[in-house]
Amino acid sequence: MKAKSILTILTIALAVLTCAGQENPKPGPKPPAPAVNPLEQPHRFDITPEEKARKNPVRFTDVSVEQGKKIYMSQCAMCHGAKGDGKGELANEIKITPPDFTKAGVLDKRTDGELFAILSKGSPTMPGQGGRMTVNQRWEVVNFLRFLEGKTPAKATAKEREEMEHERTVVIPQ
Ligand code: HEC
Repeated sequence: MKAKSILTILTIALAVLTCAGQENPKPGPKPPAPAVNPLEQPHRFDITPEEKARKNPVRFTDVSVEQGKKIYMSQCAMCHGAKGDGKGELANEIKITPPDFTKAGVLDKRTDGELFAILSKGSPTMPGQGGRMTVNQRWEVVNFLRFLEGKTPAKATAKEREEMEHERTVVIPQ
């Protein structure tokens, strides 16, 4: 008798567990991500809250802007245009339409950290530039983007200017 009631309890317990299992099915494999249309604009960029909150360690000065400009002209202008209007020759050639950086509502809605993450990681239509320049250089490019957006940089101190002159010459791979 005793063994039978234990068996009954076990059976009930098993039935309850089975039902609970059915009510909360384990998540199966995720459905495949929808295909990305590279011409669709704008894309969502994959930016974490930590990246968004990251502060720019390079002061926004005429010197850092100048430095960022050099990199921008060789690495970004072919798509984004020398003035940042999105009308670079390569963009026209491969039929992509980068946003106009000089327009209100484009860069001003982004934090420096977001810009840093975007230019480092890229998007389906924009190659990431992370491996091609140093961390400092990327922040300098962010400063140049702020300049394109219409912001006025502070005047660098003599010390900052001197430091830049002594800054390493980094060869950017083509
Ligand atoms: C091959 C062309 C190409 C190159 C090179 C390129 N970009 Fe882009 N960039 C694009 C395109 C296209 C978009 C729009 C991307 C999208 O919506 O997915 C874009 C988007 C961006 C954005 C996002 C603007 C926003 O908030 O929506 C930033 C910032 C940016 N680029 C910065 C740069 C910088 C800085 C460089 C150089 C270091 C660079 N890009 C190099 C094509 C390029």
